[in-house]
Amino acid sequence: MLKLNKIYNGKCENLFKKIDSKSIDLIFLDPPYFLQLNKKLTRPNHSIVKGVEQDWDKFDSFSSYDSFTFNYLNECKRVLKDNGSLWIIGSYHNIFRIGTILQNLDFWILNDVIWSKSNPLPNFRATRLTNAHETLIWCSKSKKSKYKFNYHALKTANEDTQERSIWNFPICSGKERIKDKNNKTAHPTQKPLSLMKKIITQCSNSDDLILEPFAGTGSFCAAAKNLRRKYIGFEEDKNYVNLAKKRLSKIKTTNKINIEPLEKDLPKKKIPFGNLIHEGYLEPGDKLYNNKKTTKAIILADGSIKIDGNRGSIHKVAAIVNKTSSFNGWDYWHYKNKNKELESIDELRKKLRNRT
Ligand SMILES: C[S@@+](CC[C@H](N)C(=O)[O-])C[C@H]1O[C@@H](n2cnc3c(N)ncnc32)[C@H](O)[C@@H]1O
Repeated sequence: MLKLNKIYNGKCENLFKKIDSKSIDLIFLDPPYFLQLNKKLTRPNHSIVKGVEQDWDKFDSFSSYDSFTFNYLNECKRVLKDNGSLWIIGSYHNIFRIGTILQNLDFWILNDVIWSKSNPLPNFRATRLTNAHETLIWCSKSKKSKYKFNYHALKTANEDTQERSIWNFPICSGKERIKDKNNKTAHPTQKPLSLMKKIITQCSNSDDLILEPFAGTGSFCAAAKNLRRKYIGFEEDKNYVNLAKKRLSKIKTTNKINIEPLEKDLPKKKIPFGNLIHEGYLEPGDKLYNNKKTTKAIILADGSIKIDGNRGSIHKVAAIVNKTSSFNGWDYWHYKNKNKELESIDELRKKLRNRT
């Protein structure tokens, strides 16, 4: 396994082989777009627009781009933990091809997110709409993955409104934009730290291990270091690696106390219904009711409940009563508290959870 908290120079095809299977919590990919730019693009005043003209964005054909994409996504599948997730960013040039390959590899797409650019480049030729967004795909390793999603943190940051799938951020500019020794933009597609930090906050916790296989100037690794995650980056261009290393050496790591996750986002301890009986919150022989008190079940010492000859778990009996194949018993059943009022058994579970 490679040492952590470093950017490695080399092709990701080779470097992936040095990563242990199922070792990574979160992957962020900003791969070549395959823009297929042929002509120089000029502004109305004839100055040249700096696009992505580098060799790293060139491929012979869609099929060679697709097999490149398949190979690195296949490696992502291998190195991701079962409950890990992956983000990938692209434009209309490549994101649809990537989406197909992700699904063919049995990744499970959770959302596509539009990064709406508040300061996009205009369409200089006035032949099309201004291209003002990029698309991100967020997916878990498989349909069964229990991926991390710090829902409450996002909602709180959004002033208690559920976060949506359109995010507004400016493209990287000003002091954040890394310059080369001639004071020119060092990398044509440097991504904004604000966008990187939002993804990391949403999908990981401190000390999680993050992988950025197309690191460029190391934007995702920089956000990871700042937010106290561990990281590994790959980048084939030595110049970019040097820029990324220099950048990372200046990034400060936030104090642990200032990045504590919200209690509500932490995974809940599993409390089986039987524990409420073993811990004395309920007694064998006590009754459980639905919220209208029209259904009554009796609690047995082994943690099962019984109603009219049907015996089973709180979920199974709730499903029988409601004539469905499954039902969440924690939502359905109530007990009589000390004041003889009906209260959800989920309240007892919360009390027990807080105690243990
Ligand atoms: C779209 S850019 C990523 C920019 C980066 N997100 C940033 O903020 O600076 C893609 C990067 O992938 C690198 N790259 C292309 N093919 C690669 C490969 N096979 N292995 C490793 N890096 C590669 C390119 O040199 C380029 O820097």
